[in-house]
Amino acid sequence: MNNSEELNKKLQSFWNEMFTKKQNNTIKLNEIKERTILDSYLKRLGRDASQIIDFGTGSGYALFVAKALGKNMQYGLGIDTSPHAIQLAQQFCEDEKIDDLEFICHDHTYLKRIPSNSFDGAICSNVLDVLPPDTTAIIIQELNRILKHNGKLLIKLNFYLTNELIEKLKMDLLGKNMYAINGVLRGVNYTTETWLSMFPNYKLIALDEYERLKEGPKDRIIYLQKA
Ligand SMILES: C[S@@+](CC[C@H](N)C(=O)[O-])C[C@H]1O[C@@H](n2cnc3c(N)ncnc32)[C@H](O)[C@@H]1O
Repeated sequence: MNNSEELNKKLQSFWNEMFTKKQNNTIKLNEIKERTILDSYLKRLGRDASQIIDFGTGSGYALFVAKALGKNMQYGLGIDTSPHAIQLAQQFCEDEKIDDLEFICHDHTYLKRIPSNSFDGAICSNVLDVLPPDTTAIIIQELNRILKHNGKLLIKLNFYLTNELIEKLKMDLLGKNMYAINGVLRGVNYTTETWLSMFPNYKLIALDEYERLKEGPKDRIIYLQKA
């Protein structure tokens, strides 16, 4: 097993464990409101795109918001390695009688099975910056293939890690720009400019900030259009 495979394996059990602590969604689909700036971008994506893929979907929050608030969405596909997360997402679909969202438990290699130019919207929320860089490179390449011309890509990234934050969060350097907490990779720390340089064939539509934690450092939102 190479280093990335080992890191991915650890990450997958870490995130699955996190989702075992998450309760079933109590909110109903028609009660979902636009509460945050992230919700506003999901609404925009659900209006700009009709077929949306959400890679590293977790328990499906982003697709549920895009469906509830965006008026054009017709189909959504969520992919995640966590069986617990996917089970939560599927349970929500069952409870809410949603039949146009599909959730698949698989890792990034599943992307290779998806036909080229088959989606006009994609979401990567807090995924690209928590995986080993060579895995992220594969995901970026595959999403680029899967997205149609003019397709939209919504990316959310964690806040940039300053030295002060690295110390405060008790993070250890795992490799170049890679930081871990308790041995699990939790942040691949690039500036927003470096992230943008990984999408050379996309046009930047909007760059924003998202205050996930009150008064905390701000997550980054990037909204791109495939040129
Ligand atoms: C930080 S969470 C983000 C979840 C969700 N997108 C959100 O914004 O709340 C990262 C997610 O990526 C998933 N994940 C980790 N490695 C993966 C891989 N190789 N392929 C697919 N999903 C993966 C985890 O199970 C976890 O749900």
